[in-house]
Amino acid sequence: MKNEILRIGEEALRELKELDGLEALQELKVKVLGKKGSLTALLRQMGSLAPEERPIMGQVVNEMRSRLEQAWEERSAELDVLSLQKRLATERIDITLPGVRVTRGHHHPVTQVVEEIEDIFLGMGFQIAEGPEIETDYYNFEALNLPKEHPAREMQDSFYITEEILLRTHTSPVQIRTMEKLCPALPVKIIAPGTVYRNDDDATHSPMFHQVEGLVLDRGIRLSDLKGILLNFSRQMFGESREIRLRPSFFPFTEPSAEVDISCMLCGGAGCRLCKGTGWIEVLGSGMVHPKVIKMGGYNPSEVTGFAFGMGVERIAMLKFGIEDMRLLFDNDLRFLQQF
Ligand code: DAH
Repeated sequence: MKNEILRIGEEALRELKELDGLEALQELKVKVLGKKGSLTALLRQMGSLAPEERPIMGQVVNEMRSRLEQAWEERSAELDVLSLQKRLATERIDITLPGVRVTRGHHHPVTQVVEEIEDIFLGMGFQIAEGPEIETDYYNFEALNLPKEHPAREMQDSFYITEEILLRTHTSPVQIRTMEKLCPALPVKIIAPGTVYRNDDDATHSPMFHQVEGLVLDRGIRLSDLKGILLNFSRQMFGESREIRLRPSFFPFTEPSAEVDISCMLCGGAGCRLCKGTGWIEVLGSGMVHPKVIKMGGYNPSEVTGFAFGMGVERIAMLKFGIEDMRLLFDNDLRFLQQF
């Protein structure tokens, strides 16, 4: 019987070394130590042994049993590690594989130019103001010295929603809104970028476009201040060698009014196709704020003077990037937009 016990035990130990999974381990345990296991069956036969033999056999069985149990424990720990290693190997992620690249967009050229203009004026101490795109007749025209029957309205008449409400035709109404808000504080020194709308559509006009308005008000502001600020702006925007000139013009909200030209950035002033041989390129409208407008804004025109200007962003973008048709800016063709 002793031999039988040892044989079963040794065989179980050998099988234990060879098996390769926790399931097989469990099966082997049932096969040897389970209710119907081979060692269990031997134990049942102990009753038939002679009384003096029983303790000896009991010891043999117990020793074998504890050897087996210890071996089991060790093997099961080994198998745990093995199965973990196996999982780590099969579930491994190769982090060296190239990922899915997210293509990066960039700002629309019009936005780029607005931001550049903002940066330049912020650098000169201006603040940024805003106004609504749906505007009243009062702010868009009336308060800017453009009464109902004024012929200059013709140049701008646009998209009306009602008799009194329209899509703003320029950013100039922000002048009035800002003065109303800040009065009596001085100085007023703002730019107002924004979208504007007009009933125009050709290679150099779009029904929706962008302007940047400027307004400076204080005691003792002069035309030379206007020229200095705009010269500085032009050089930062189009290069240090730019010159500007002021040409007399007319706007109802400024007196005197001036059209501002910049020396041509393509030929430097010699005359070329871009400047139509004149050496100058018109970029914006400006002037000394009309006393009536200052009054409409709440300030006293006998104490306060100021200048204002308004520029078209698309026009500046076209000059800067050499774009010949404004409509290209709004076609949303990526082949075009990706160039900027
Ligand atoms: N609002 C004018 C326009 O859209 C541009 C302009 C001209 C604005 C002179 C001004 C200015 O502030 O002083 O045509």
